[in-house]
Amino acid sequence: MLKIVQGDITRLEVDAIVNAANQVMLGGGGVDGAIHRAAGRELYEACLDVPEVGPGIRCPTGEARITPGFRLPAKFVIHTVGPVYRDGRHGEPEKLAACYRNSLALAAENGCRSIAFPCISTGVYGYPVADAAKIAVREVTEFLKTHDGIEVVFCCFSSEDKMIYERLSKEYR
Ligand code: APR
Repeated sequence: MLKIVQGDITRLEVDAIVNAANQVMLGGGGVDGAIHRAAGRELYEACLDVPEVGPGIRCPTGEARITPGFRLPAKFVIHTVGPVYRDGRHGEPEKLAACYRNSLALAAENGCRSIAFPCISTGVYGYPVADAAKIAVREVTEFLKTHDGIEVVFCCFSSEDKMIYERLSKEYR
């Protein structure tokens, strides 16, 4: 089932929340900063334990990694790295779609019954919200066709973003 809410993702009582991380995966600003602040120092340590797959890279763009949620209400944090938006013609749509697919797969593999996403890449990484939302709604809708027991929540930080997701999710039915 798909839900769209407005609020702070660190407060959601779901099995997993998705973090819009960077490839180093040791925290940052935006939702990454909020999740690390709310989860506490153990999250930073758990991220340090995630093996590097390249110099200073724990999670390549488009991939996802899972850690416990520690002080968060959520049991898990799924860290994914969205693309930095250039012009939409440098593989950004494919990478963003992969973030949703890989995060959903990781959540299902770990027995999560509910997972919440922020609007990945639409902040610091500059992805236009409506374009990113189209990809998010498409990927989640596809996933739910074969995982109808899982609840997926889009957690929008602003009411403008929420309205965009609501409009697009109606179109996608
Ligand atoms: N709850 C839900 N959504 C939030 C929260 C929060 N507490 N804080 C911010 N957001 C929203 C932003 O408003 C935006 O819509 O999350 C969305 C993603 O924005 P960013 O956090 O800037 O993430 P992104 O654009 O993917 O850039 C990732 O930013 O913080 C750094 O370390 C991070 O380098 C990485 C980059």
